[in-house]
Amino acid sequence: MVKERGLFQGITRFKNRDDYDLKESLQLVEAIGKKRNPKFVIDDENRFVYENIVKWLHCDMTMKAIHPETKHEVSGDMKKGIYIAGNTGSGKSWCMEVMLAYACLFNFKIKFGIEDARIWWRIVRADEIVARFIETTSIDEYKKTKILCIQDLGSEPLEAVSMGNRMNVLRTLLEYRGDQSDNLTMITSNIPICHKSLTENYDDRVKSRLVEMCNYFEIKGKDRRKL
Ligand SMILES: Nc1ncnc2c1ncn2[C@@H]1O[C@H](COP(=O)(O)OP(=O)(O)O)[C@@H](O)[C@H]1O
Ligand SMILES: [Mg+2]
Repeated sequence: MVKERGLFQGITRFKNRDDYDLKESLQLVEAIGKKRNPKFVIDDENRFVYENIVKWLHCDMTMKAIHPETKHEVSGDMKKGIYIAGNTGSGKSWCMEVMLAYACLFNFKIKFGIEDARIWWRIVRADEIVARFIETTSIDEYKKTKILCIQDLGSEPLEAVSMGNRMNVLRTLLEYRGDQSDNLTMITSNIPICHKSLTENYDDRVKSRLVEMCNYFEIKGKDRRKL
C-alpha cells in the first residue's frame, strides 16, 4: 500500500539511452552555448562540471562530483541535485542555463514519488526569492517546485521582514527542501559549501542538508566577462 501510494518513494531516475556518446553530447552543449555567445567554450576550467552534468542528465553511473571538504573526486548521485561554487563570472549561471536547454532537447524522464515528470528546472535568483517573500509573506511556490535552481545563493539579504514576520528566507527554504525526499535543488554560489560564511549565513543544519542534497562542483578561473 505504501509503495502503491508512492509514500517514501523519493525519486526514480531513468536511462533514456544506453548508447549516448559523451563526446557528441559535449559538442551539442558547446553548440548551444555558442548560439548564445560565440565565445562560449568548454575548457579545462569547466569541462569536469559540464561532463558530469551531462552524465547526471543521462543517468550515467560513471558520473563524478567532488567531495566538498577534501575536493577529491567522488561518485555522483543521481538522486541528488547540483551545487556549483566559483568566483563571480566563472560561468556558473550559464552552466545551469545551457544545461537546461540541453535537458529540454532530450525530455529526460524522472519520477517524483509516483508522479511522472520531465527533467526541467525553474531558475530563480536568491534575491528574487527574498523579494517575493517580502511582497507576499510566502515562499510556498519555491517549496513546491520539483526542481528548483537557485542562482547566487549568499548574495541575497539574509534577514527579511514581511508583515511583521522576520525570516532568513533561504535558510527556511533550504531546510524545508532538505526535509523532502521528492524534489531536487540546484544551486550556484560564490560560497564553497564548506566555507565558514555558508554556516554563518544559514547555520550548520543547512550546510549538512546541502551536502546531502547536492552533488558538489567548483568552477575555477577568472571572470569570463573580462576576458
Ligand atoms: N563556458 C563559457 N565560455 C565562454 N564564456 C562564458 C562561458 N560561460 C559564461 N561565459 C561568459 O561569462 C559571463 C559570466 O558568466 P556567468 O555564468 O554569468 O557567471 P557566474 O554566474 O559564475 O557569475 C557570461 O556573461 C558569458 O559571457
Ligand atoms: Mg551567476
